[in-house]
Amino acid sequence: MPDQLTRLAYRTLQQGKALFGVTHKEVTNRLMAVLAPDGTPRTVPVPAELVARLQESMDALHASDWQEAEEGLYPASLLFDAPWLDWAGRYPLIWLDLPQIWNRRRSRRVRDLPDGVDPSVYPDYYLQNFHHQTDGYLSDHSAALYDLQVELLFNGSADPMRRRVIRPLLDGLRGFADRAPAGIRVLDVATGTGRALRQLRGALPEAQLMGLDLSTAYLRQANRWLAQVPGELPQLVQGNAECMPFADSSVQGITCVFLLHEMPGAARQNVIAECFRLLEPGGVLVLADSIQLADSPQFSAVMENFRRVFHEPYYRDYIGDDIDGRLQVAGFDAIEARTHFMTRVWSARKPAHQQESAAL
Ligand SMILES: C[S@@+](CC[C@H](N)C(=O)[O-])C[C@H]1O[C@@H](n2cnc3c(N)ncnc32)[C@H](O)[C@@H]1O
Repeated sequence: MPDQLTRLAYRTLQQGKALFGVTHKEVTNRLMAVLAPDGTPRTVPVPAELVARLQESMDALHASDWQEAEEGLYPASLLFDAPWLDWAGRYPLIWLDLPQIWNRRRSRRVRDLPDGVDPSVYPDYYLQNFHHQTDGYLSDHSAALYDLQVELLFNGSADPMRRRVIRPLLDGLRGFADRAPAGIRVLDVATGTGRALRQLRGALPEAQLMGLDLSTAYLRQANRWLAQVPGELPQLVQGNAECMPFADSSVQGITCVFLLHEMPGAARQNVIAECFRLLEPGGVLVLADSIQLADSPQFSAVMENFRRVFHEPYYRDYIGDDIDGRLQVAGFDAIEARTHFMTRVWSARKPAHQQESAAL
C-alpha cells in the first residue's frame, strides 16, 4: 500500500509535470506570436477564476488517482510510470516540429499526409492532421511524439485521466468473477500507442488484453512500450473501430479512450454499436473522452480554445453530443458517467439476459 512519502513524491511529480506543461505552452505561444503571427489562433480569454477552478479540478483528479492506487485497484508504481529518458530524448523533436505545425495552421492545410498513404484503407474523416500534427496518425515520426505531446497538452495528467477507466471496468467485470482471471478478455479500442493498455495491465495482470487501432505506426510504438511491461504481451490488431475483426460476444470488457471526439456522430454511433456486438452479455463498455458542455459548462472557454488552437474538426459536434442517448440506442443499460478534470468517463453494460427479455 502506498505510504505518505510516496504520496508526497506523487504530488511533487504531478506539480512538476504541470509546471513543465504550462511553461512549455506559454513559451511556444509567445514564440509563435513572434515567428508566425498570422497563424496564431484567436482564443477566448480564460479568467483567473477559471484557472483556479481548473487547478481544483486537476487536484481532485490526482486525489482520486492516489486514492484508487491506495485501495489497490492498480499498483502505486503506475503513478510514476513514464518513459522519462525516452521523452527527454524526444522533447527536442517537438520543438523542431513546431514550424511545420505553425505553417500547416497558417495555410489551413489539414490533409497534409505522408506520400504513399492509400486513402482507400481509411475512412475519409481519418485522413487529416488532427491537432495539426505532422503526418496525422500515419507515420512513425508522429507516433514517436504523440505521448509526450498529450502529456504536455494535459499538463502531465493524461495517464491519471486514462486510469479513471479502471474502476468502472473492474466493477463491470465483477459479473465474471467466477471465471479464471486469464479467461477474461478486455479490448482497448483506438489504443494508439497503448498507454491505456499499459494502465490496464497494471490492474489486470492476468487478463487477455487486446488493442485495436487504424494506425500501424501507432501500433508499432504500442508494441515497443508494452513489450517492456511484465506479463503477456497484449494482442495488437490493425482495424477500423466501426467494423472490428472480432467475433460477436467475444470479450467481457471494452475501453475506448479519446477516440469519440475525433469522428463524426454517425461513426461514433457505429463504434458504440460495434462494442455492443463484441461484448458478451453482462460485459462492460467504458468510454473516456473530453468533457462536454452539458457536464462542465464552467469550462466552456477551455473547450472553445481547444477547438480553436488544434485542428479538431468534430470536437464542436462532440461536446454537444448525447453519448448516453447513443449508448441507449445501441442497447446498453446501467449507464453511468462521471467527470474527472478534462475527461468524462461513461460506463455501460450489455444486458445479461437479452434473449430472455426479447422473448417476453
Ligand atoms: C487521440 S488518439 C487516442 C489514442 C489512445 N487511446 C490514447 O489514450 O492516447 C485517437 C486514436 O484513435 C485512432 N482512430 C481514429 N479513428 C479510428 C477508427 N475509426 N478506428 C480505429 N482507430 C481509430 C487513431 O489512430 C488514434 O490512435
